Amino acid sequence: MTATGNTDFRDAGLVFPEGFTFGSATASYQVEGAATEDGRGPSIWDTFSHTPGKVWNGDTGDVACDHYHRWEADLGLMAGLGLNAYRFSIAWPRIMPTGTGEVNQAGIDFYSRLVDGLLERGIRPVATLYHWDLPQSLEDAGGWPARATADAFTRYAEVVGQALGDRVHTWTTLNEPWCSAYLGYGQGGHAPGRHEPAAALAAVHHLNLAHGRAVQALRATSAGDPDYSVTLNFHVLRGIGDGAGEAMRRIDALANRAFTGPMLRGAYPSDLLEDTASVTDWGFVHDGDLAEIHQPIDVLGVNYYSTATLRLWDGVSPKQQNDGHKGADGGTAWPGSDGVVEFVEQPGPYTDMGWNIAPEGLEELLLSLREQFPAQPLMITENGAAFPDTVDPDGAVHDVERVDYLRRHLTAVHRALSQGVDLRGYFVWSLLDNFEWGYGYAKRFGIVRVDFDTLERTVKDSGLWYRELAHTRVVPELGPRERRTLDR
Ligand code: FCB
Repeated sequence: MTATGNTDFRDAGLVFPEGFTFGSATASYQVEGAATEDGRGPSIWDTFSHTPGKVWNGDTGDVACDHYHRWEADLGLMAGLGLNAYRFSIAWPRIMPTGTGEVNQAGIDFYSRLVDGLLERGIRPVATLYHWDLPQSLEDAGGWPARATADAFTRYAEVVGQALGDRVHTWTTLNEPWCSAYLGYGQGGHAPGRHEPAAALAAVHHLNLAHGRAVQALRATSAGDPDYSVTLNFHVLRGIGDGAGEAMRRIDALANRAFTGPMLRGAYPSDLLEDTASVTDWGFVHDGDLAEIHQPIDVLGVNYYSTATLRLWDGVSPKQQNDGHKGADGGTAWPGSDGVVEFVEQPGPYTDMGWNIAPEGLEELLLSLREQFPAQPLMITENGAAFPDTVDPDGAVHDVERVDYLRRHLTAVHRALSQGVDLRGYFVWSLLDNFEWGYGYAKRFGIVRVDFDTLERTVKDSGLWYRELAHTRVVPELGPRERRTLDR
């Protein structure tokens, strides 16, 4: 791990320390395409996206950005932008098409080439094992609410640790288990689209167990000296009205402490168990599980996009469901607190996702994590924004609002650093416009545009801006033309 002990950045304007990582992130189902090629088995996202009505416009990840075939050119783009690291995810159904049993060598070969290609270009490989593409066979056998899925994940972690653990720089076990559990099994806006509050909590536990076991399995099989991590999407909360504190406590327990508790402290928070007692008795937590989950990690991955505002629901007025997340579908993402807390509209400005732009929330989050886990180094593994970009007649994409979003958030990150937060790096979401889950191709997050008809890539102004940041380590000011556009 690169130490960021030097402090030359403190009084020198928005200069980032030597060794601070600037990277970009993607995820397998969102960019790869080639859904049935070279032995890849189906995942829950194939099934979900092919189910009418689940994804906007009937979009699927069948082709996506065709990164499976264009990976070399995409690595060239990253090298051209001067990025230090690439956070990608491994598709479990490429490695083990049915989730257990046979290993598919062609899948391993793909990621092995990708990792070598990154290293050749001086880009550190940061590999996530699970960014939501569960093999469909495992879902058919019960999915994350079933303990056997955590067993299968452990075996998968051994296989990839063995194959790539000599070269991967950082292993990330899970991406945003909050989404996998609560959106997948509770709210239903994500695959597999179930509406079972008790199953969502069982999924929380089995994802936690999968994380802890995978860290152990990766450690046992990785021949190199990689870092170990997990990525969580922390909810940064504001409360209003009487009982604001209670509303925030409940959602903090479900969204944040349900994961940091077992992973970083070795216990579920007692208030979480009490708040959800009417939904489940947590009998799926076996003796010894918490010790398995509680593994030391080198970095804690932090994904941040916006804040959420809550109040206790009066039980009478129509309940607001604006929880800032994708594709609500009748279920609840908040087992045990659904009839208690409501999410209320937040002041703008907003991105194209309808998410409020609140860079101060990121600084606050980093400071709060430092306070809660003083010895835990942090890494921002996702931050970025969707905007409806347009292409100028000359082919350029002047995505001024995204540049402004990134500049504001990196300024907030810098403020946290200068207050002594041990933050090792920042990954922009995303390298490429891609398949944005329930929104299909309608939402563009890339610093590189993808034309989904021709699959042609164009570096946006935000990509050029980020290149300058990666190169100089100084947050670039907005140019006069960008300021004029934002003033309008
Ligand atoms: C996060 C996901 C990522 C992407 C961004 C916008 O929740 O991890 O795949 O969809 O949101």
